[in-house]
Formats: sequence, C-alpha cells, structure tokens
Amino acid sequence: MLILMDFLFNSQTEQHFADVVLSEEFLNLGIEQVCSLISSDKLTISSEEKVFEAVIAWVNHDKDVRQEFMARLMEHVRLPLLPREYLVQRVEEEALVKNSSACKDYLIEAMKYHLLPTEQRILMKSVRTRLRTPMNLPKLMVVVGGQAPKAIRSVECYDFKEERWHQVAELPSRRCRAGMVYMAGLVFAVGGFNGSLRVRTVDSYDPVKDQWTSVANMRDRRSTLGAAVLNGLLYAVGGFDGSTGLSSVEAYNIKSNEWFHVAPMNTRRSSVGVGVVGGLLYAVGGYDGASRQCLSTVECYNATTNEWTYIAEMSTRRSGAGVGVLNNLLYAVGGHDGPLVRKSVEVYDPTTNAWRQVADMNMCRRNAGVCAVNGLLYVVGGDDGSCNLASVEYYNPTTDKWTVVSSCMSTGRSYAGVTVIDKPL
Ligand SMILES: *[C@@H]1O[C@H](CO)[C@@H](O)[C@H](O)[C@H]1NC(C)=O
Ligand SMILES: *[C@@H]1O[C@H](CO)[C@@H](O)[C@H](O)[C@H]1NC(C)=O
Repeated sequence: MLILMDFLFNSQTEQHFADVVLSEEFLNLGIEQVCSLISSDKLTISSEEKVFEAVIAWVNHDKDVRQEFMARLMEHVRLPLLPREYLVQRVEEEALVKNSSACKDYLIEAMKYHLLPTEQRILMKSVRTRLRTPMNLPKLMVVVGGQAPKAIRSVECYDFKEERWHQVAELPSRRCRAGMVYMAGLVFAVGGFNGSLRVRTVDSYDPVKDQWTSVANMRDRRSTLGAAVLNGLLYAVGGFDGSTGLSSVEAYNIKSNEWFHVAPMNTRRSSVGVGVVGGLLYAVGGYDGASRQCLSTVECYNATTNEWTYIAEMSTRRSGAGVGVLNNLLYAVGGHDGPLVRKSVEVYDPTTNAWRQVADMNMCRRNAGVCAVNGLLYVVGGDDGSCNLASVEYYNPTTDKWTVVSSCMSTGRSYAGVTVIDKPL
C-alpha cells in the first residue's frame, strides 16, 4: 500500500493512475484503502473518468462481495466534474450504478450541477464539486502558429521535464497574431491573421486526442488581440480588424458555445497584451490606430461592474509586448515603440498600483509569446526588428535573471500563440 501511495502521489513519477488501476495490487486493495486513495484532492489524474473506471474495475474484480460498497466508493467520485455525455452514456448505463439508489442520488447531484447557472454552482457545498489539485502535474508549453515569415499551421510543444520540443497536430488553417488560452483542458486559438484576412474563427485543441476542432466564431474579426480567461469565460480584447484598431471586447461561454460583447476599453488597442491578476483583466499598451502612437497606458476590467478603468502607466511605450502573470504580478516584456524593439521588462503590482523595472532579457523581442510555469516566466520567439526568433528565455524572479533555454523551437516565429497545458497522461 505504501508503495502504491507513493506511486500515485509522487509528482515525479511518470507512471499513471490508469496503469495502476489495471495492476493486481490495486485490485487487491481493501475498501478502506481504495476510499482513502480516491478521496484525495492530490490524486494525479487527467480526468475524473479515471476514478469512476477504477471504482468499477475494483468492484467487478470481486463483484459478489464488493458491490455492496458501491455507495461508499461513489461518495468519493466527483461525478459533477464529468462531462454530461459521459454521465448519460456511461455512468447512468452502468449496472452497478443502476442497482444502487444512493449511487443514483450522486448521479442526480451531478446532473443538477450541470443544469445550474455558474453562480449557483458555486453555492453547491459538496466535496464532489471540488476540483482535484494534483501537485506539479507535468506541464507542456504549446506554441501555436505564428509568422515564419508567413502565417503557419505548425504547432510544437516543449516538455519542461525532457527539455525538448516535439510537433503535435497542425492547426486546421494558417494562423498568426491570434490570442491563445488554456481553458477547461483545451487550448483555444482565437482570431488572428490567416495570411490574407483577419479572421473571427476560433479553433480549439484537445491535447488528449491531439486534435483540433472549430468552435463558434467571434463577433468581430481580430488579429493582434489579447486573450485571457476570467471567471471561467474566455475574453478577446482589442486587436486589429484590417482597417482599424479595436477597443471592443467580447467573451466566450464554453457551455453555450457563444460570444457576446462586454464593455469596450477606453482606448483602441491593437498589439495589446493581457493578463488576469486578482480577478481583474488587464490590457497593457498596444498601438492606438487613431493617434498612431504606441501606448504606455494600461487599463483593467472588472467583470462585476463591466467597467474598464485606467491604472498606472508603464514607464515606457510598448506595443506588441509579451504580457504574463507570475506570483500575482503582471509582467510587460519587450515590445516596441516605433522602430525601436525593446529588451527591457517591467512589472506591475496591483497592491501598490506601481510599475517597476526588472532585469532586461538577453534579446530584444516584440510580438513574442509569454507564459508562466513552475515559478518562472517564459518568453517565446518574437522578432528583434529584423529576424523571427526561435529562442526561448525565462525569468526567475528570485534571482532577477533571464536564462536562455538550450533547446530552440524548430523554426523562428513571431506572433505565435503560447500557453501552458497539463501534459496528457
Ligand atoms: C483566410 O480566410 C478567408 C475567410 O475565411 C478564406 O476565404 C481564405 O481562403 C483564407 N486564406 C488562407 C490563406 O487560408
Ligand atoms: C469589482 O468592483 C466591485 C464594485 O466596486 C468590487 O466590489 C469588487 O471587489 C471588484 N472586483 C475585483 C476583483 O476587484
């Protein structure tokens, strides 16, 4: 048992819960041990389906004796976190569930959860609606499309542990200058430029299936937009529609697969960077097509009041800055002011409403991708004013130092979308 616990909870292990479940050792555990395993918040699994299947496998291993434990086991399976389709097609059809009225109650609880609007879900005080929070699940950095020098379809992933890059399924069509987020286990590539047009299309990538599919179009065409997730909604902020810079902002609800406009920013911003800190969405710098100026202004959006408010300006104008969030601080990395491409970096602390300078990057970069992982801030590709860059560097806030990653991307790209995902198990 100790070995198995270590196996399941050790964040360094490369073994998977799915393998463990098939093992003789798991199937021979006692009921108390299985309950203690599957009730843990720290269980390292890619989806709650694995837990349900483990319970069914364990019971079926000695069905006559074990089926009386179904209710005790299902108490720890977080059915509300499973997709509706899976609940209907798999859980409801399972004979072991059908034969237990307590199990059917858990199924009803899960269905109810799916029917409730988001605000009311939060009020459901059940241990089964709580997300599991595995320690240090292995991460991948996904780099999607970009300009190399034309819009490309290539998608590559960096494995932080193996310290190497590999290609995954290509985008369905060329895309650069898109917004990129990771939400609900999927990567979303939002808008951008396909080589001839600014698009309103959105593609989503399922890392488990290694597959792209299209979801609902945005209302507006946007390239060089900012994209971020706030309160479970995907926001597309500003950008350029082919003729003007945009102040408009729209949000996507994954449940209804719909986009809707929210309050526009105070300023038109193309080549804008965005980030979420403390439940507020920040739009940093960019280019204001009207005054033809790169911007040092920053504004922030409160979803409750549906209002944008200016906050402290950056020390310098930055368009095409990489924006990322690390330890509740907002970073603005590189960017340009006219022809001048920057290597300088500044960081905003919302608690003091002030920007301060930190160490310069090793290279000048604009239109780079930024993401935070394992306490470090990564900046990926971009261009230095003449070349697209294949290099990646990261910032360590404890040492205030930038370090170049030894392994480069397969190709130099600027305007790529970058995000960090859980490594599929
Ligand atoms: C860009 O998108 C437009 C509209 O969706 C489409 O007609 C066109 O073929 C696309 N161009 C390329 C190069 O993919
Ligand atoms: C948004 O504004 C409301 C009303 O002023 C305030 O109560 C709330 O704390 C703000 N939200 C955040 C995340 O600051």
